Amino acid sequence: MAEIRRLRESDVPQAYELSTIAGWNQTKADWKRLLNLDPDGCFCVEQDGQVVTTTTAVRHGGDLVWIGMVLTRPEYRGRGLARRLMVHALEWLESQDVSRSMLDATEMGQPLYEKLGFVSDYPVERWFRRASDEKPDDSAMGAFDVKDWVKLDSAAFGADRSRLLDLMDGGSGFAIENQGYALGRPGRIASYFGPCVAVDVDVARSLLVKFLAGLRGEAVIWDLIPASPGIVHLARAFGFDPMRHMVRMRRGGEYVPPSPRIVAMAGLEFG
Ligand SMILES: CC(C)(COP(=O)(O)OP(=O)(O)OC[C@H]1O[C@@H](n2cnc3c(N)ncnc32)[C@H](O)[C@@H]1OP(=O)(O)O)[C@@H](O)C(=O)NCCC(=O)NCCS
Repeated sequence: MAEIRRLRESDVPQAYELSTIAGWNQTKADWKRLLNLDPDGCFCVEQDGQVVTTTTAVRHGGDLVWIGMVLTRPEYRGRGLARRLMVHALEWLESQDVSRSMLDATEMGQPLYEKLGFVSDYPVERWFRRASDEKPDDSAMGAFDVKDWVKLDSAAFGADRSRLLDLMDGGSGFAIENQGYALGRPGRIASYFGPCVAVDVDVARSLLVKFLAGLRGEAVIWDLIPASPGIVHLARAFGFDPMRHMVRMRRGGEYVPPSPRIVAMAGLEFG
């Protein structure tokens, strides 16, 4: 019997196995961060004594919820489990008066979301830079502090995500006063660049250079919005190549064009 229930901290090893089988970059720390951010919005299907499907729906400030980690173990696919879990999550969101849900869909996920009333807004892309010892020259920068950036970040992202930024260990970020900030974190396959918000592409370049200079040769993943002015050119100039194409989808609310100030997303599961 398949049972739908909340995802718990003790499920993290199995949830991590699901994202690993799918080839995704999330670590156990990323799963724990989702649970910390919104324990009531993380769901799973348990069948045969194991977690076989997951979905997370984390609430940012205001009325925006970000859906992610929609995964089914390969041997359980095609049985309607992801659909059942998504319907459950959406009903829960409706009971919480959430009026706007967003997500970044893979090719495999898009048909499922379309059937559930999501519409496509614009492309998002994952870019990859191979492991490299090349380190660009960086300059000194200030440390990142969430409270200095809430306004700029909220204006660019469209909702207050200060709780997420707090959970992303601000100590490892850096900032250029009034112009932009960047955070990074370890990933299963590659270091993750983002979130990064900057007032223009020159500031974005300085923040990227600083991030790359701090690596110890690791590969890098960067999720970006290709329509952002100058960002694709910047990614290519620093040795990144496109790896995966996704589409940003929305259920409820009006279409809002992407802000040119979003240089790097916080993660496909966070927005
Ligand atoms: C996408 C995924 C979660 C679907 O899980 P699932 O449990 O097999 O999905 P379901 O059986 O509930 O199918 C849901 C709907 O999507 C459709 N669907 C599922 N997989 C599909 C595929 N590969 N191609 C086309 N349609 C597909 C089905 O037709 C179904 O519609 P229906 O209910 O009208 O018949 C699963 O394939 C997976 O884990 N993929 C890898 C990770 C991934 O890409 N996740 C999506 C992130 S956005």
